[in-house]
Amino acid sequence: MNLTRNSILSHDIDESRQGLAYEDEWLVVAEGKKFYIESYGCAMNFADSEIVASILRQENYVSTRIVEDADLILINTCSIREKAEETVRKRLKDFNKLKRARPGTLIGVLGCMAERLKDKFLEEEKLVDMVVGPDAYRDLPALIATAEDGGKGVNVFLSREETYADISPVRLDSNGVSAFISIMRGCDNMCSFCVVPYTRGRERSRDPFSIEAEAVALFERGYREVTLLGQNVDSYRWSNEENVNSPGIASVNFAQLLERIAKIHPKLRVRFSTSHPKDITDEVLYTIARYPNICDYIHLPIQSGNSRVLKLMNRTYDREWYQERVEAIRRIIPGCTISSDIITGFCTESEEEHQDTLSIIEWADFIMSYMFKYSERPGTLAARKYADDIPEDVKKRRLSEIIHVQRQVSHRHNLRDLGKICEVLIDGDSKKSKEEWKGRNSQNKVVIFSKSPEYKIGDYVNVRITDVTSATLLGEIVNTAS
Ligand code: 5AD
Ligand code: SF4
Repeated sequence: MNLTRNSILSHDIDESRQGLAYEDEWLVVAEGKKFYIESYGCAMNFADSEIVASILRQENYVSTRIVEDADLILINTCSIREKAEETVRKRLKDFNKLKRARPGTLIGVLGCMAERLKDKFLEEEKLVDMVVGPDAYRDLPALIATAEDGGKGVNVFLSREETYADISPVRLDSNGVSAFISIMRGCDNMCSFCVVPYTRGRERSRDPFSIEAEAVALFERGYREVTLLGQNVDSYRWSNEENVNSPGIASVNFAQLLERIAKIHPKLRVRFSTSHPKDITDEVLYTIARYPNICDYIHLPIQSGNSRVLKLMNRTYDREWYQERVEAIRRIIPGCTISSDIITGFCTESEEEHQDTLSIIEWADFIMSYMFKYSERPGTLAARKYADDIPEDVKKRRLSEIIHVQRQVSHRHNLRDLGKICEVLIDGDSKKSKEEWKGRNSQNKVVIFSKSPEYKIGDYVNVRITDVTSATLLGEIVNTAS
């Protein structure tokens, strides 16, 4: 899942995913204990932190950006690569130093690391007072009470039902323009490298009415872009039998959900992440093509360009299948951009197979990719079945080759936009200059342009592209967008 946002409290482990800053509205809550939360990993985790913030608000907790002021320090963790775990352990040690200066402060670990490392963190290393799994956030108030009484607050139970559908997230995103909406939880795929099915449990879809209500409420508050989040959005399926509060609809699939959200308002942009190449349907593609406010951009992780490696990864598609899906995207949504996740140095990957990954980046014309070295995760299929046999220096070299090719492909793609006019949703100041705004076009490219007094953050503007880098388009406003 892709993210590029300004970060204050959230820290990016892979440097490709950035975090969320607190909304001022949150700060008006007057009194109460203070909590501080740091989030790591994917967009789902950031969305979960917003649910946690909402649950804590009910308990009269207020947020603080200053960790030294906090009565409760939470760290929302990611397990996807080993490096993520190391970072969290280091942060917990920092927090424990603060706790020594301020006894009574509680420290909690939330999210994906909870299950695997609960004993280590609680008993062996005594780094935390609470360990709370991704499906146990409703239990936080009780766990805090246990910890306040000197006990250990632990709940790592993984649910088959929990979707937090009724919890209205406290928006930790300060730009007031774009927000995440979690539409499902867990994952039923068994990609052999991936720890997510173990840490987040079985896949379940949230009811479409609560998703729609959340999107409507955001639009009414001035938000202009929602990103529907799930580990595998294409397998979203909600059906009536299993759910209450379902006025007359038997079932809703992802294409139908997209359509419902797109219909809320033409000025509400709809994005989604992540799509799985085995599940993305033509119905979804035709729905994107039909609604101008569903963005022409698909994050479609390939992981490897080689069919043998894909089989070992248990991705259940091969190179040709992926190519066919890309051709369908090109045919049904001309101009749609595609991005990817890529893992290099997976077990037994040969040089030739690595070349297949380089060539698919070229062939698929990805506008960008999140690129990783394979990191063996305990308990996964790959850890049990295959040796992690690609030496670290080879992994590193292959990764830098992949990054190099991707950069060239991104630059080439951007050069084709020179002179074009695109509609951009202004979402903030550019990082480099207060005189400039930044925003994204429908294809998810970041566009930078000079400010104009006629417009404000949250407006759509037409921008002519006058220059490009491999990461950004630069341009000038030409007139009001429709
Ligand atoms: N090692 C490296 N990268 C991984 N990912 C998931 N598991 C691993 C792992 N064990 C990557 C995949 C996935 C993204 C979210 O993280 O590319 O799509
Ligand atoms: Fe992990 Fe595969 Fe599920 Fe993505 S689809 S979360 S990579 S198991």
